Amino acid sequence: MDFRKEISGLEKSLIQWRREFHQIPEIAMEEEKTASAIAEKLRGWGLTVHTGVGRTGVVGILQGRQPGKTLGIRADMDALPVTEETGLPFTSTHPGRMHACGHDGHITIALGTAKLLSHFRDQLKGTAVFLFQPAEETLNGAQAMLSSEILKRVRLDAVVGLHIWPDLPLGKIAVRGGPVMAAVDRFSVKILGKGGHGAIPQKSVDPIVIASEVVLALQRIVSREIDPLKPAVLTVGRIQGGTTFNVIPDWVELEGTVRTFDPDVRSLVAQRIEEMLKGITSGSRATYNLNYEFGIPAVQNDGKLASWIQGVLRKSLGEDSVVVDLPPSMGGEDFALFQGKAPGVYMFLGTNSEENPLYPIHHAKYSIDERVLPIGVKIFCEIATEFLA
Ligand code: NI
Repeated sequence: MDFRKEISGLEKSLIQWRREFHQIPEIAMEEEKTASAIAEKLRGWGLTVHTGVGRTGVVGILQGRQPGKTLGIRADMDALPVTEETGLPFTSTHPGRMHACGHDGHITIALGTAKLLSHFRDQLKGTAVFLFQPAEETLNGAQAMLSSEILKRVRLDAVVGLHIWPDLPLGKIAVRGGPVMAAVDRFSVKILGKGGHGAIPQKSVDPIVIASEVVLALQRIVSREIDPLKPAVLTVGRIQGGTTFNVIPDWVELEGTVRTFDPDVRSLVAQRIEEMLKGITSGSRATYNLNYEFGIPAVQNDGKLASWIQGVLRKSLGEDSVVVDLPPSMGGEDFALFQGKAPGVYMFLGTNSEENPLYPIHHAKYSIDERVLPIGVKIFCEIATEFLA
């Protein structure tokens, strides 16, 4: 199968689709218009389409003429509650909503791949399953899709996904085995003291002073108790308590996130948060409630599949295009949950160029260099056809 000619014929459509999706950004679990536009295209190319998968997700199944393996190709499709400031002619038409993370590009790349592979259906062995996932930003879309009846039935031999990445030069693709994105946990704490007059502290149990001690003590878990060669982040992102300057409140609330790669480090941090809280509050005549939620696991790329993909992409894109040492990120990605279903590889596709101003993802001026779209299609098409062959 020679994609080169087909892809260049598709370039105009890719740009047009991306701009159409860019204009109708929808946030997590509200991706109604986006999903129906995707489903309509997939049906037009002869795929079997399931909608409403995990609320707004879309699954498109492309069965080749010959039996073979099954590959999942995942694209996230949600936007962010951001007011766009790019000034582009195809700027968001939904107030306060913006594709500020490039998911419009991810949708387009997966659609382009579906269209191209459907052309070569007669030669295709096995099955490509396109997974258009809602709610990646809130990290609950993958779980919703995987709990659906349809995805419980579908067996995958491997799954791939990618993120358009502003820090990498246009056309470079970062692929590596092992951890690439962190596990994401969330905790909330309520420290219960005893309120009273700000001038008579001896008759109160001051939760503000106790909470201050807790925040500092939690920082010591990462700096003093974890192997410095094993990454961990503990951030307290919210602290709330009190109403005015001369009143000691009854309680203070804290909320934070923990990011790790190693499962042992992960459980150690959770355990030590509780122990610190217990010690500090009991020594201060206070009590606490802790709610620690273990969220999505780390994205752990399958080593064998990753090195196989490196080989395939070196051959098709050129030796220099494949980056094997992009450092892991402490951000999270619920692609990790698809890796619980099949060996998976998550990649980062560069979009940085002189023509495209560099803003980070989630920024109101973020945009992509659209030349990345056909490159993404080529990457998925090469992986799919080689894997399914
Ligand atoms: Ni994203």
